[in-house]
Amino acid sequence: MTFDSRNMMFATLSNGVKMPMLGHGVYQVSQDDCERCVRDALEVGYRHIDTAQSYYNEEQVGTAIAASGIDRGETFLTSKVWLEHFGEGATRASVEESLRKLKTDYIDLMLLHQPFGDVFGAWRDLVELYGEGKVRAIGISNFYADRMVEFCEFNDVKPMVNQMERHPLNQNSELMEWEKGYGIVSEAWAPFGEGRGGLFGNHVLVDIAASHDKTTAQVMLRWNLQRGVAVIPKSVHRERMVENLDVFDFELTNEQMSAIAALDTKTSSFFSHADPKMVQWFAQMVEERKAKLRGSGN
Ligand SMILES: NC(=O)c1ccc[n+]([C@@H]2O[C@H](COP(=O)([O-])OP(=O)(O)OC[C@H]3O[C@@H](n4cnc5c(N)ncnc54)[C@H](OP(=O)(O)O)[C@@H]3O)[C@@H](O)[C@H]2O)c1
Repeated sequence: MTFDSRNMMFATLSNGVKMPMLGHGVYQVSQDDCERCVRDALEVGYRHIDTAQSYYNEEQVGTAIAASGIDRGETFLTSKVWLEHFGEGATRASVEESLRKLKTDYIDLMLLHQPFGDVFGAWRDLVELYGEGKVRAIGISNFYADRMVEFCEFNDVKPMVNQMERHPLNQNSELMEWEKGYGIVSEAWAPFGEGRGGLFGNHVLVDIAASHDKTTAQVMLRWNLQRGVAVIPKSVHRERMVENLDVFDFELTNEQMSAIAALDTKTSSFFSHADPKMVQWFAQMVEERKAKLRGSGN
């Protein structure tokens, strides 16, 4: 792990690419709000933006980055390939579309968003795009240990990042050991669990926050960073963006790290990707989207 002059922590991916360990997520940020949010995030100091094809706001992210005046080399841009674009040819076409929408020649990190469907075909396209320099790093998301190990064992090029739900109530700590074994950097989506399960008011976190004169949001981010996990909190509020970035001037004690570790329920606050009904739900959703695309002639 390294630090820059603004005290940002960086993870070094297995191919040497440096990724800011704290970024700004834009899931569930409307197209109307997104350009302003990314502009605010860049102005207050974020240099890592996390979007996805399925968030339908890549265009607004691209506009904000292009208009920011910040050197493209200083920003780290993540996007994700959505399920209906999995498969050889389709994945390439979708990444080229993402590049157009994001108004850039390269994406810093492109992830396979979900572990379902033709992930191997999709990966072959990503590996090619990586070789061509159109993406600087490639990875996966929502791959639990069994699927991740299978994916690593049956591909020559290993994923560089695995983006997973990771917050105090669902920590995915055992998975981190497997990730380490394949040189994969662990990243947290929903680092606050979107506030579910009363996380912002959790009394263990409230007490720890008070001892550092920090907020529970800051404690949750610091805890993940201290255990080596990159975080991409979402907020549409500029003052919260500032708050969420202000986590590099304090350190949790070993006791505090252990107290947070003890909050783990090992259960998703959202849904399990291993639930067969959810797999069916994803498959049906892809079919519906494909049918809609055929209907619109796209
Ligand atoms: N790979 C995947 O499958 C996947 C899935 C989900 C998310 N993600 C990525 O991870 C990012 C973060 O996850 P997320 O958006 O689901 O949830 P999150 O970051 O855990 O939580 C966001 C929620 O917390 C609130 N919040 C933010 N900062 C706060 C603060 N300092 N104090 C109090 N409340 C605060 C936000 O409200 P306001 O916006 O009103 O401030 C919002 O309601 C996403 O934006 C996306 O980029 C990836």
